[in-house]
Amino acid sequence: MSRRVPSTPRPAPAPRLRTAAEDLGVAPAVLVAKNVSVTYEDGHTALKDLTLDVRPGEVVALLGHSGSGKSTFMKAATGLAPVSATQLTVGGIDLTTASGRTLRTVRSRVGYVFQHFNLVPQLSALTNVLTGGLHDAGALGTAGLFPRAQRERALALLERVGLADKAKQRADSLSGGQQQRVAIARALMQRPQLILADEPVASLDPRLAGSVLSLLRQIAHEDGIPVVVSLHVVELARRYADRFVALDAGRATVRGGADDLTDDAVSSIYGPDMYSEAHHGN
Ligand SMILES: Nc1ncnc2c1ncn2[C@@H]1O[C@H](COP(=O)(O)OP(=O)(O)OP(=O)(O)O)[C@@H](O)[C@H]1O
Ligand SMILES: [Mg+2]
Repeated sequence: MSRRVPSTPRPAPAPRLRTAAEDLGVAPAVLVAKNVSVTYEDGHTALKDLTLDVRPGEVVALLGHSGSGKSTFMKAATGLAPVSATQLTVGGIDLTTASGRTLRTVRSRVGYVFQHFNLVPQLSALTNVLTGGLHDAGALGTAGLFPRAQRERALALLERVGLADKAKQRADSLSGGQQQRVAIARALMQRPQLILADEPVASLDPRLAGSVLSLLRQIAHEDGIPVVVSLHVVELARRYADRFVALDAGRATVRGGADDLTDDAVSSIYGPDMYSEAHHGN
């Protein structure tokens, strides 16, 4: 006669509490800006009550006329502008109160990409990448001074941006598009939580602009590192950003998904006269 062996009762799994973000189906924001205002020392208010959350994996384009506050927002997001805000956090660190070491920690977690690349011209592409995360590039000489693991990581990043064969070449002998790719690899060397790209393609021809923005989008979508990018050409925002915020005299005027950048939206951001230039670039 067979007898069924009673199975040992399993303990019920402990209930796992879902986070609010999971309930909403979204990851928590890396950058949280609530009612951020910036008034410079001369009394000029360059940003007024800007509210914007930036989540992992997304590309957010900042649009707007020259002087509308795009770079000011980037500065505010790294504690480089005088801010008043209900909340301004990067990776959970409050920038409205941070100073000294805390501020340096935030900055080391934010990768910057600038219009003019800001590489050290006489150093090789590889050494420029290695300087990512270091605060004093002036003290550096050659890649040989860095630990092997770091050199290997920097080489892998150069390979990722398509420049493995240019590792030893001086930065100032690279083309503009190549220099911007080195700058992106340098930003990635920091293992950033967030990338701020202030007009990263304004000095590049349209084909190179597309390839640099496509690389930034790939980094956001594949690595989850969110990218905030200021752009002057709407078509590029439409093609490479997930969503956009348009600023006018420091205030957010229009925002939405890239598909919302209709001709009407573009006219309301730039005005009918500016439509053609902003639409197509030059
Ligand atoms: N340090 C400062 N002191 C005073 N005013 C400033 C300072 N920096 C910027 N501004 C002013 O703040 C406003 C916003 O400047 P910001 O550089 O943020 O504009 P932007 O949108 O990045 O413009 P652009 O498209 O030309 O780069 C401008 O009127 C500018 O003159
Ligand atoms: Mg600017």
